[in-house]
Amino acid sequence: MTRATIILLLLVGGCGGGTSGGGQDAAAGGSDGGGGYAWGGGTLPIPQCGYAITTRDGANPPAQGSPMLGADPTPWGLHLGLVGDPTTSMAITWRTNDDTTLASTVQYGVGDKTDQTVEGITFAYQTLGYSKDSVRIHQGHLCGLMPGTTYSYRVGGKDASGKEAWSPVYQFHTAPAKGAAGADFVVGVIGDTRDQTGKYDQWGTMLGRIASIATPDLVLFSGDGTSLGTIQVEWDAFLKQAEPVLRQTPLVFAQGNHEISAVNYYSQFPMPGDQEFFGFDDGPLHVSVLDDTPMMASDVMTKGTPFLDHDLTAAAGAPWKVVLHHRPMYSSGILHGSNLDLRAIWAPVVDAHQVDLVLNGHEHNYERTKPLRGGKVQASTTMGTTYVVAGSAGAPLYAVGTSDFTALSKKAYSFLVVKARVGNLTLTAYDDTGAVLDTLTMMK
Ligand SMILES: [Fe+2]
Repeated sequence: MTRATIILLLLVGGCGGGTSGGGQDAAAGGSDGGGGYAWGGGTLPIPQCGYAITTRDGANPPAQGSPMLGADPTPWGLHLGLVGDPTTSMAITWRTNDDTTLASTVQYGVGDKTDQTVEGITFAYQTLGYSKDSVRIHQGHLCGLMPGTTYSYRVGGKDASGKEAWSPVYQFHTAPAKGAAGADFVVGVIGDTRDQTGKYDQWGTMLGRIASIATPDLVLFSGDGTSLGTIQVEWDAFLKQAEPVLRQTPLVFAQGNHEISAVNYYSQFPMPGDQEFFGFDDGPLHVSVLDDTPMMASDVMTKGTPFLDHDLTAAAGAPWKVVLHHRPMYSSGILHGSNLDLRAIWAPVVDAHQVDLVLNGHEHNYERTKPLRGGKVQASTTMGTTYVVAGSAGAPLYAVGTSDFTALSKKAYSFLVVKARVGNLTLTAYDDTGAVLDTLTMMK
């Protein structure tokens, strides 16, 4: 079966199955896709960071950038991500207008300076139904940074003749050192941005509202970015809308069922580990990210459950424990409701490790549960886990009811702003106009 056939089947079949593999293609195993590339993926160590970047089937192996500029090397679609320690590293991803430029350089420095240089990496992936046969990605991996520090940067590079092309200079802030006192650590939580118009302006507006309420240190995305993960024109719209915020704030993504494990998705959002099941400390939070729609459905049990137990065991001392995945274990939504299969295997692990907050999407409405343990409502947030669905920043709204576990439910567009410090976490939900839907303060 060819890659084109597989993608066509996915487009016809929609998103219901949850086990589709849009990233797999006929070139798996390294055969040539016809453009001179081997499309079987590959791995490249990033020496200054102590990790490696792996591309998937449908992409060519990552390589060091080189001094070549194409016809229009203007950078666009800049967005930040995390692969290493958020206190000392930052991953920067971008495209160029021509998709042929190979220069992949980041100039950066403390404060207003851009006096340091790191040579980035580049790779391409195949896509169909797009203006070009393939999409070229550039990534710069900055490591050895100082915690709690503002950095300036620009991306681009030079060709062999000395011609240069650079983005404007932007800034980001590294995460505070572990245990550092100071301002609240701010996290925006948003998801389900696939829209019906292809403009993605609702997503852009709501992400902008997060940044206008409080400058986020991190954005957590709960899945379903585009209507199908293989549709590159929608990812382009998604990133154009997101760029003003995400070029200064890192985003961490949990795969939703609409991503369909597409090579487009994994190529555009570098993340720790296998990009599916990973955990990281950021500010006073430990965040465990799970893929509840993996290519192999059995991975939910065979990878997800042991990973979550291991990750939360290692994070036992974290001030706040947060789990992020797409399909809710508790929901009063009319369309999907609670996913009882996930609840059966993951909720006991959440209970055992006394997770504070589980963040989901998938149901396009807002719902917060009362504190739960063992499926029973508890008297306080110190005795149980709060589950929140903040699902829809552009996708069509779904009706929602109430259950015995419901603290508040509403059919509304929604996003969260979480402000956390040791001993105190405040969660505020907003609708698309910026009006407050809900607020909860946890103390311990
Ligand atoms: Fe979904």
